[in-house]
Amino acid sequence: MPRIRVRGFFNQIMKNTASDITKRLFNRHYKQKKIDPKLPDARFRSAVARYFLKGRSLDLGAGDGRHVLFLASKGYEVVAVDFSRVAANHLRKHVRNQGDVKNVQVKIADIRETIPSVFSNIYTNYTLHFLPKTEWMKVIRKMQKQTCPGGVNLIEDFSESPSGNVPKKGYAYIQSKDLQDLYKAWDVLRSSPLKVKTMVPNGRGGFRKAESFFFVARKPR
Ligand SMILES: C[S@@+](CC[C@H](N)C(=O)[O-])C[C@H]1O[C@@H](n2cnc3c(N)ncnc32)[C@H](O)[C@@H]1O
Repeated sequence: MPRIRVRGFFNQIMKNTASDITKRLFNRHYKQKKIDPKLPDARFRSAVARYFLKGRSLDLGAGDGRHVLFLASKGYEVVAVDFSRVAANHLRKHVRNQGDVKNVQVKIADIRETIPSVFSNIYTNYTLHFLPKTEWMKVIRKMQKQTCPGGVNLIEDFSESPSGNVPKKGYAYIQSKDLQDLYKAWDVLRSSPLKVKTMVPNGRGGFRKAESFFFVARKPR
């Protein structure tokens, strides 16, 4: 139907525009940031030690690579995907300058693109909430498909708006119920609510905290 096609075309333009804005914001953010990715927090480090399967790992929305560098230091081969050219170049430079960081591949791409091969572990931290719900659902399904049997998915993200704003039309923060449904055939290893500090001042000299979650599941063998 022409009208439906026009609407689909219009929706596509809106989605691409939103993600171009996100990309531009992150390019600006990483331009101002020093290249010194911090260690990931204890939660992530302990999930890697307890649950990750040896082998290749994929980071969707890797930023300047705090999780990637940690995994590489533990002997994992890691593919980092991010659509910010500036973040990717920071990470590449860091990998080049640190002689002991090996087995890191950095790809400038949108996480909505096809995941080209199968990985032991696929994880994403604070990235899916930039996508509308239909899109993050598709990304999660692709993560599941491209994880090898016995492999792990780890997702950490906001479950409420980090700025306190009402989500835009079509956008929705991931809730634990969504993950329970999506991962009902998997072995859920961790599913914990968190409160994380955001960049938004709380008006009392500190920063706002937003509800988040930390989720880890293993694919059946
Ligand atoms: C809040 S940062 C988190 C970075 C990293 N995961 C971490 O926890 O330090 C979100 C990252 O996702 C990237 N990003 C957002 N939407 C993306 C998309 N559709 N495709 C690829 N990267 C995306 C941004 O460029 C940014 O580097």
